[in-house]
Amino acid sequence: MMKFILSEKPVSELKANLLVVPVWENGSTIPDQITFAHGDLKKMIVETSKEEKFTGELEKSLFLPVSHVLPYQRLLLIGMGKQKDWDKERVRRFGAWAIKAAEKVSAPKIVFALDYFGELDIQQITHALVEGAELGCYRFLKYKSAEKVEKLHLTPIEEIVLAGIPQKEHEDLVPHIRRAQLFAKATMFSRDLINEPASEMTPGRLLHVAQEIALKSDEIQLTYFDKDQARERGMNAFLAIAAGSSREPYFVHLHYSPRSGQPRQKIAVVGKGITFDSGGLSLKPTEAMVDMKIDMSGAANVLGIFSVLCELQPEIEIDGIFPACENMPSGNAVKPGDVVRAMNGKSIEIVNTDAEGRVVLADALCYTVTLDPAFIIDFATLTGASMISLGEEISAAFTNSRELYQNFLHAADEEGEKFWELPLVEDYKKKLESQIADMKNVADNRWGGAITAALFMQEFISEKPWIHLDIAGPSGVWTQFNVVPYISQGGTGFGVRSFLNFLEKISSPTV
Ligand code: BES
Ligand code: ZN
Ligand code: ZN
Repeated sequence: MMKFILSEKPVSELKANLLVVPVWENGSTIPDQITFAHGDLKKMIVETSKEEKFTGELEKSLFLPVSHVLPYQRLLLIGMGKQKDWDKERVRRFGAWAIKAAEKVSAPKIVFALDYFGELDIQQITHALVEGAELGCYRFLKYKSAEKVEKLHLTPIEEIVLAGIPQKEHEDLVPHIRRAQLFAKATMFSRDLINEPASEMTPGRLLHVAQEIALKSDEIQLTYFDKDQARERGMNAFLAIAAGSSREPYFVHLHYSPRSGQPRQKIAVVGKGITFDSGGLSLKPTEAMVDMKIDMSGAANVLGIFSVLCELQPEIEIDGIFPACENMPSGNAVKPGDVVRAMNGKSIEIVNTDAEGRVVLADALCYTVTLDPAFIIDFATLTGASMISLGEEISAAFTNSRELYQNFLHAADEEGEKFWELPLVEDYKKKLESQIADMKNVADNRWGGAITAALFMQEFISEKPWIHLDIAGPSGVWTQFNVVPYISQGGTGFGVRSFLNFLEKISSPTV
């Protein structure tokens, strides 16, 4: 984590490698927007922005060597587009662009000069800026050799100063900085788990990560079931999917209860934990299989969330559940046409072994219901169909509780994470009727595949208030399509920040 400092001083009285200022496309000219620019500096800004045709357009930026006129080596102007479009998400991106630029020019100390707030307040700006900066320099470099890493010329950012913040605001802002850092930390925790290859991030490793989290804190307890214990509990749907793999499956349950001993309510978060999805005997083609280490993103989110609970201290009791196994073909693997009975007694005909997520989650949801939470939220990289509907940036969402979903959506919106609701269409349940079992795990055709998957899961929640988040799209970035500067290639930890923000909202006594 970086060090963030609030300073009352104007930029002219501070000192750093880099000074970063946002500039806008409309209204006054660029030099006029930079209030501390006079004389030579102003002249240089006028000339260089003209030469470089820099107009403050969004995503464009301009470096200026200013050590002769200011106590900084460089001044970086970042184009922010129209002032009326300035919102929290722009601030988050601004933070990330600045950090990326600073890394490139080896500037360990940065000063931000921000004096336009628009409709936002200083707390919102600080939160978004810190998130953007922290997430913007995330990289997964573990498997690169030292020479390769060296060639990237990355200077670690040590210190970020927010200039011109009145002293009276400081006390109030410090917890906001801390909170944003924890949101980022949890997200990067999830990213690290997703990015690890499936040969490393096995079901056993996921359990081990949960154990480490529980060991570190008095407020978190761990329960887990190995294969035999899961069988005793009737988790046959989960075990059917795990059967093809030579690695031991684990059913993991983390429990957090606040130090105060007076939680406002008890809730549950569930994650899909398929550490590798080959498709099983319904084997995926190589192109579709290559990124399938991502299929434990839901579990990674649960672990990311739990990794910061003791620091955030929400006044909510939380159960975090994930079934962890591999989906592999072998002589022991579940076969298309097999019938298994889930924990609640419903029988499932497994027509397609690649639709394994909903099958393992069937048992996970049954188990979660027995804990009697006020509501359940699940994260699952469940269907390619959700990506056909909404693309790579947006998660599909399903719910049986309007109020719960509205509140979650509001929290997600503040975090710049996009969810879009798809309907749980009653009529489509017919598509899951099986000749020989209570239901089958896939419909006869692909149409509405995200919806039929959600309808399948609904059979196991016993009408508890529930949000199902199909994060198959936004959980990972594998192509060149990536316009968000605080999201790097690979696992994204998408959903962690929304959940944490939501948690804080339902935890605070003002709501
Ligand atoms: N894990 C996949 C879904 C997925 C696809 C996640 C792409 C991330 C990126 C899931 O288990 C799966 O294979 N779903 C099938 C369901 C089909 C067989 C009904 C799919 O979406 O193709
Ligand atoms: Zn699958
Ligand atoms: Zn899967």
